Amino acid sequence: MHAWVIGNWKQHPATKAQAVSLVNDVCQNLAQASQSKQRCQVMLIPTHLHLDAVATVLADSQSTVAQPSTAQPIQLGVQDISSHADSIGAFTGDCSAGQAKDLGASWTLVGHSERRQYHHEDNAQLCDKIRRALSANLGVILCVGESLADYDNGSTEQTLVTQLTVFDDLTAEEMTQLSKALLIAYEPVWAIGTGKVPTLDEVNTVHGFIKSHLVNAYPSLEDTSILYGGSVNENNASEFASSEWVNGVLVGGASLVAEKFVQIAHAFST
Ligand code: PGA
Repeated sequence: MHAWVIGNWKQHPATKAQAVSLVNDVCQNLAQASQSKQRCQVMLIPTHLHLDAVATVLADSQSTVAQPSTAQPIQLGVQDISSHADSIGAFTGDCSAGQAKDLGASWTLVGHSERRQYHHEDNAQLCDKIRRALSANLGVILCVGESLADYDNGSTEQTLVTQLTVFDDLTAEEMTQLSKALLIAYEPVWAIGTGKVPTLDEVNTVHGFIKSHLVNAYPSLEDTSILYGGSVNENNASEFASSEWVNGVLVGGASLVAEKFVQIAHAFST
């Protein structure tokens, strides 16, 4: 199983030209860095507005940049999809899973802590988003993680269990479909964009807990890859990569500098 290294660009960069330049740099650097290694699976998640331009560069680079024979194509994801409809509808400001798929995305983030915080997304809405993703054939990267208050008072596991009840309303058929295209990203909210990271032991313990909870409560999801996210950078990536419990990383800030992002991908390549 390949590890995942996923760049979540959030609301960056400022212009389409910069987005094109960033994806070009990632493609060039990756092709060079990966020559001697079995490359991890890389995914980029730009804003909706830059999706088309980034997809075009990725498609071009697959055919023009010399790729090592071990390289998987770079995948494309979106940061959010509409909870209301999988295709079209009167939902001002929304973009659907089907529209993202049409532009070349094959994955969507669901439940990133910034969406939970600033858009008050709750489990009912996140469950709808998972359903929309499934019906448009988009894979789901479900983000979970505790706040600093949860961490301080020892309620991390309880928070995660509550967040994972997002699966409770899915049918057996939907769960089977989801099991083929689900990644879970454990992202402690207090580690996102702060430069603070939990110790590897803490991450291993939480990933082990998530895994055993899946086995007990959602057995069809027991093989789900569990990624870590929160202040991952080119200096700490190798430590996370050394753990059998960490199946990859979701990277924010460091994914905006091609050289740093590619060093992280290199750490997860074998
Ligand atoms: P960060 O963000 O790497 O900047 O901490 C991670 C994320 O929000 O996914």
